[in-house]
Amino acid sequence: MHRVARDRTALTRHGLSRPIRAALDDGLLTAASTLFDYGCGHGDDLRLLSAAGFTCAGWDPNHRPGVARIESDVVNLGYVINVIEAPLERAEALRNAWDLARSLLVVAARTNAEVHDLTFREAMADGVRTSRNTFQKFYEQQELKHWVEFVLGEEAVAAAPGIFYVFRDAESRELFRASRSRRRVATPSLTLSEQRCHDHPELVTALIGFFTARGRLPQSHELAEGAELLDVFGSIKRAFTAVRRTNESVAWERISAQRREDVVLYLALSHFERGARWSTLPPTLQEDVRALFGTYRAGTRASETLLLDIAKPGAVETAAAASTVGKLTPTALYVHRSALDHLPLLLRAFEGCGRGYLGEVEGANLIKLYRREPKLSYLSYPDFDRDPHPALSFSLNVDLREFRLRMRRFAGQPNPPILHRKECFVAADHPRRETFARLTRAEEAAGLLDETESIGLRRGWDLALQERELALRGHRLVKARQTGVTASPTRKT
Ligand SMILES: C[S@@+](CC[C@H](N)C(=O)[O-])C[C@H]1O[C@@H](n2cnc3c(N)ncnc32)[C@H](O)[C@@H]1O
Repeated sequence: MHRVARDRTALTRHGLSRPIRAALDDGLLTAASTLFDYGCGHGDDLRLLSAAGFTCAGWDPNHRPGVARIESDVVNLGYVINVIEAPLERAEALRNAWDLARSLLVVAARTNAEVHDLTFREAMADGVRTSRNTFQKFYEQQELKHWVEFVLGEEAVAAAPGIFYVFRDAESRELFRASRSRRRVATPSLTLSEQRCHDHPELVTALIGFFTARGRLPQSHELAEGAELLDVFGSIKRAFTAVRRTNESVAWERISAQRREDVVLYLALSHFERGARWSTLPPTLQEDVRALFGTYRAGTRASETLLLDIAKPGAVETAAAASTVGKLTPTALYVHRSALDHLPLLLRAFEGCGRGYLGEVEGANLIKLYRREPKLSYLSYPDFDRDPHPALSFSLNVDLREFRLRMRRFAGQPNPPILHRKECFVAADHPRRETFARLTRAEEAAGLLDETESIGLRRGWDLALQERELALRGHRLVKARQTGVTASPTRKT
């Protein structure tokens, strides 16, 4: 949702390890940065990254012992600490890797949520001995965070389940965290009939781009075009007034209000982190807070109110029932990933608690917000766009009281849960919403959606289609006999 600039190389992410993919996706590892892979194994990530033009090197005590350990912008310590049996050696590996990191350390370890993937022989020290006779220590998400923070004395930010970022400087960390609370807002299209605006479209575009991104006007030094804007318009404010005069229909106040919400959300979620204070906020964020709230105190007060509101009995339930996006069931509100920005602030904050704890759950495209319990589930439907009734591949459940993860896998199962009424999960601006809705109307008219109990699983649904001699062709309901289409098309689950 709130990704920063992506790397532009022709790198295929296929085959890269999860922590490296996360750093690339978050724009924290780019072709312009150097990477050191600490405990790189046979160097699979390094091979792929080098081929794509990245400057990288790696060391491994077993596979590349002779390579020098050098300082780099980004250091990856991927799935190393969980194979080290001695706790002191684990901490030493973490500290050594951190010492090499100029701007970012990525630490990844296996989590308890994956435990069922392995067969164990026996318990061993604080981990297990696997059937391949190797040691593995599995972490709880919070345990890993606290351990990294304890050993390094630095805040660890959840990038994904089992993956944390440690930033060298607090400002970069806070910019990253704030970017996660920021919605995408489209830059309004403008009429530039006012003479000076018409003569200097590039200045106006830069100014409005900034306003859309931050919900406020820039200080002249915050914009490369600042000095020129002053020259042409006299002041930034006057430049903005000139644009506004000919663009009265643009919802300028709404843009500011949305950004204000984003900042409240960021400040609210900062309460769970020890390192977020006024002094660690980057200048841009300090300016945001000043412009949108007047003072830092006013901003934090708004964020505290939000947290108190979430904790009120029935608050999530009420907000879920009133939400204009998502599919409401008796127990939960289900929302597509792309529609999260459209949730009311209280629910964004509720979901933000899960995201702050977990980071990005790769592949999860539906989020289940429980109405009456502090619980969230991140659900993966890989074929959501293509399959009219996509199958659940996995669910990752988080209980915000216990901070425990529970993973359930459905991929490959012959009778997985499937989705209906896909339009309910997405926002009004989803490009295929009407296609989904049209199919739902046809299925309703055919009586297919009446038996809600049985159609929730693939077999029950296929049976319902067969009984009515119906089938699906893409997102169209057709007669099975006439077309030769079977009700149970071969599927990837
Ligand atoms: C599961 S592999 C991970 C390899 C690679 N980082 C990846 O993500 O594919 C764990 C690696 O940690 C290395 N290792 C073991 N003890 C280490 C230590 N004290 N410091 C650095 N690496 C270590 C092992 O040699 C092994 O290659």
